[in-house]
Amino acid sequence: MNTPQEPEWLAFTEAQPEAPGDGRAFGKLILAGEHAVVYGHPAIAAPLPALSALAWVVPGEEGVRITSEGYSEAATLETRQGPLAPLAEAARDALARMGIDPVALPPLHIQLASTIPAGSGLGSSAAVTVALVRALYQFFGFPLDPTILQEIATEAECIVHGTSSGVDPAAVSATGPIRFRKGEAPHPIPLTTSLHLVVADSGERCATAPMVRKVREAIERDPEAQKTLDALGVIAPRMESALVASDLAAVGTLMNEAHAGLARLGLSTPKLDAMAQAARNAGAWGAKLSGSGGGGVIVALTPREKAGAVAQQMQEAGATAVTYTRIP
Ligand code: PMV
Repeated sequence: MNTPQEPEWLAFTEAQPEAPGDGRAFGKLILAGEHAVVYGHPAIAAPLPALSALAWVVPGEEGVRITSEGYSEAATLETRQGPLAPLAEAARDALARMGIDPVALPPLHIQLASTIPAGSGLGSSAAVTVALVRALYQFFGFPLDPTILQEIATEAECIVHGTSSGVDPAAVSATGPIRFRKGEAPHPIPLTTSLHLVVADSGERCATAPMVRKVREAIERDPEAQKTLDALGVIAPRMESALVASDLAAVGTLMNEAHAGLARLGLSTPKLDAMAQAARNAGAWGAKLSGSGGGGVIVALTPREKAGAVAQQMQEAGATAVTYTRIP
């Protein structure tokens, strides 16, 4: 098999830190239902363990300090503005839910590092938040209920994106593929056959909020856009049945349908379209953008023996980084 070179952002370079409290979360992929999930439809998502976020808590010098690789400014528990504000909110919320009075705390330093590129639809903000909450609960020796984790992380996501269905926090803290519907506990999808996925980065970056807004504006003014969103909303249940039946050709066809619908809503880019088409030409069962769109990644479902060719074709179509993952 023609194995693609592992690009820099995919290499997991952070050693597990030696710290009294640490937490971790993965990147994520959405196989069906992004955007439709905001309006109450189900989505299918899965963690992407090739990419991780780490948080670790160590004794500090003064108060509670939160620092993240890539950001020069630190946050404190009082921080309510700036890029680390959602993490400060998550820390405040976690401490309150554990019944810990921040005033009585010894000085702490919460550090974060992530290999998940931001703005690429891979769940980077949700993963750092989930890692931070897990680290704090682990540091203080409290068991962390998955529902509480989901609530804290979704609140923080709402600060980052203006709104969040909660699919990202659910997927980055899951151990396998899930069906997710807003307001409900994630439902694991049992697989009897492995999914071989090639994930290719377009190198294009786009924040989630403007894409969510774009869809809202489109469905408000154009009944055709509403129809497209409704059609996207029924893909996830069909995909779940195909996954459970191990009908991967059908799963791929549904991924193609999803990409076409997302493209009709103006969420794809010429490069994403070219990469998805290249994957199909190389023998993938299906390929689609994953996440809010406007850039980010294409995920392709492929027969195992075609994974190398699919990766190579997507690189030739302009992918800046490609990785292969298998679920489970
Ligand atoms: O933040 P992203 O790009 O991974 O997308 C999240 C999925 C959306 O459906 C677009 C938004 C949401 O809150 O569900």
